[in-house]
Amino acid sequence: MAHLSESAVVKISEICQRYADENTPLMMILSDIQNEYGYIPLEVQELVSEKTGISVAEIYGVVTFYSFFSLKPKGKYVIGCCLGTACYVKGAGQVFDKFSEVLGIKGGETTEDGLFTLDALRCIGACGIAPAVSINGKVYPKVKVSDVPEIVASYRNA
Ligand code: FES
Repeated sequence: MAHLSESAVVKISEICQRYADENTPLMMILSDIQNEYGYIPLEVQELVSEKTGISVAEIYGVVTFYSFFSLKPKGKYVIGCCLGTACYVKGAGQVFDKFSEVLGIKGGETTEDGLFTLDALRCIGACGIAPAVSINGKVYPKVKVSDVPEIVASYRNA
């Protein structure tokens, strides 16, 4: 979506129009765009700005503040390591580092083959099974550093 296709321009304009009567439409617009395309690059932010009159700076601020939004396309599998307090005290930091080492990427990055994105999450509401890791919505309980290579391999070979 680096250069916006005509159909993308039409679709995004429609999404902006959908919330034209709302007082604070930005989150709804960006959520719909994220759901539709999986990411919100600068070209799209500029178009949203043009359609809504909201500055690009404000839009960029929102997109980069919330981890739900992404500036770049995410991988086929999005690995979310919870680094909330309950998970952290049970070793989530080391689990996160192991995913980073096995995948060869830092948090927020995607592997070159487009398979994996690694994200650090705040509490995902699964503190009882800390440390918790979520992969495309499936939650892995009590993940140990030694589990990480096998978890990655199971998706690589899927
Ligand atoms: S802190 Fe990780 S699930 Fe709550």
